[in-house]
Amino acid sequence: NQAAESPEKKAAGIYAASLVKSGDAVGLGTGSTVAYTIRELGRRVREENLDIVGVVTSYQSEAIAIEAGVPLTTLAQTPKLTIAIDGTDQFDENLYAIKGGGAAHTREKIVSMSADRFVVVSDPAKKAKTLSIFVPIEVMPFGKELVMKSLKEIGGDPVLRAAAKKDGPVITDNGNFIIDCTFGEIKNPLEMAAKLSQIPGVVEHGIFMNVDEVVIGKADGTVEVIRK
Ligand code: A5P
Repeated sequence: NQAAESPEKKAAGIYAASLVKSGDAVGLGTGSTVAYTIRELGRRVREENLDIVGVVTSYQSEAIAIEAGVPLTTLAQTPKLTIAIDGTDQFDENLYAIKGGGAAHTREKIVSMSADRFVVVSDPAKKAKTLSIFVPIEVMPFGKELVMKSLKEIGGDPVLRAAAKKDGPVITDNGNFIIDCTFGEIKNPLEMAAKLSQIPGVVEHGIFMNVDEVVIGKADGTVEVIRK
């Protein structure tokens, strides 16, 4: 999803980079929208002497940040971040979000929960009245049968995510599997999140409850910002 230029994603991603100030420690999410943010932060480091450190959420973001020239650190070195910026797959009116389409949501949740402010960058199509897309769930390979069974018991339709260019399942940056689970409309994301967290073998699910604001990019380059 890196190939096609999207003016909407670009508008959101570049606006979010303007929220970052010198001295900030910045969580750098994963995906095609936040990639615009990371590249814009690199430009500001080079051209405006922006003094920041970033913490990445995936090998993909690491590569983009290194290429863009964003100095990187780790949560071990910098456990408290000023701001985290990341994409989303869907969000609702209460700013609950589903993430993990790129299988990076576990690190994304750790990084965003380490930040004082969590900004999500999106295009208009991801806004929904009620969350309804599949929930990505990172699972320990050893626990996948129990997790599949437990997800069916709570009304889900789970599918082990297959790799695109490898026979067999996707392996995450953490060495785990991803189960994508459809529940239909998720009327109570908090309750669903609690149920998913209780299943042994679930490393992390893709329901995010810590979004502070969503930046929606428009095709004309403007943005709409929705705050909690
Ligand atoms: C990564 O696992 C996801 O949580 C991404 O943040 C999400 O898929 C957004 O991706 P795009 O910005 O490419 O749509």
